[in-house]
Amino acid sequence: MTIRRSIVAGTGAYLPEKIVTNADLARIVDTSDEWIVERTGISERRMAADGETTSDLAVKASEAALAAAGIAASEIDLIVMATTTPDDTFPAAATHVQRRLGMTRGAAFDVQAVCSGFIYALNIADNFIKVGQAETVLVVGAETMSRLLDWTDRTTCVLFGDGAGALVLRAGQGQGTAQDRGVLSSHLYSDGRLRNLLYVDGGPSTTQTTGHLRMEGREVFKHAVTNISGAIMAALEANHLTAADIDWFVPHQANKRILDATARKIGLAPEKVVMTVARHGNTSAASIPLALHEAVADGRVKQNDLVLLEAMGGGFTWGSSLIRW
Ligand code: ACO
Repeated sequence: MTIRRSIVAGTGAYLPEKIVTNADLARIVDTSDEWIVERTGISERRMAADGETTSDLAVKASEAALAAAGIAASEIDLIVMATTTPDDTFPAAATHVQRRLGMTRGAAFDVQAVCSGFIYALNIADNFIKVGQAETVLVVGAETMSRLLDWTDRTTCVLFGDGAGALVLRAGQGQGTAQDRGVLSSHLYSDGRLRNLLYVDGGPSTTQTTGHLRMEGREVFKHAVTNISGAIMAALEANHLTAADIDWFVPHQANKRILDATARKIGLAPEKVVMTVARHGNTSAASIPLALHEAVADGRVKQNDLVLLEAMGGGFTWGSSLIRW
């Protein structure tokens, strides 16, 4: 029996030029390079220039992904863009990307699941392809987290960065087994009761302002490893696989300690973990496609490799995805 599968045709990424080091942050809040590196693994992050928007970053990452896939914008049926920092309250940032890519048909919309946004967007894109509603989908994760930060709060402003990543999915065929190329499974979760541990204190229908990111970091940490490991185990079980089958683990890049603890808990060798948090910080929905693109571009991720993605973020939201490259 053959089934429809969503196969990755290309990846792309874009980082703003400006690098902000830990030493730069130590000049504006009471922190140090030593504290930030020891607690998070982050050494530097990128920051969008004045006037540079989330869709500016997204367009550059999307153009790179389309070029890598050898696909014209006119061939895209759908753009699903994960972002928690859209240019405007509306319209969706995805429609800015659509216009600027020169795509005049199909549909484009945003997905809001904060740091888990890329996993949600990928799942949605995969389902559009599986039911036959789309053949070619551009999945984007792009953020300007610097615009949401309270630059007087040292407990949050040192953690985040700006950037964008994208991938192109195309419909293909498989046998319905874990040997198929393409997205093998997605598992999504949320628990709205945990809202107060990680949120933004503003919004159009509350304060009519954008607000700032607020987080109980230690509490988030406690939930992260448990939730992420659960989503990973669900992915492995659904595909009758074990951690030993994973070629590359490309997690949401929140904190090196969370990633190390997760890899240990599920029994994954450290050399299989793609880690960019030291240079990118936490770029929310952009972190997975940024890391994925890096591992594809430098030749680590190859055709037929089994790639495991996971994320957790505000909401809480969390999830996992397994892809045979
Ligand atoms: N520089 C120096 N000291 C700091 C800083 C800073 N930037 N930030 C906090 N501190 C101080 C605190 O004030 C506290 O001081 P006190 O003991 O005098 O009260 C001390 O450092 C310890 O603070 P904790 O919050 O307990 O530090 P912890 O070891 O938990 O590390 C961190 C904080 C890095 C935020 C950690 O809890 C974490 O990474 N949590 C996960 C958060 C996360 O990744 N969120 C992203 C979104 S969710 C996701 O993507 C998974």
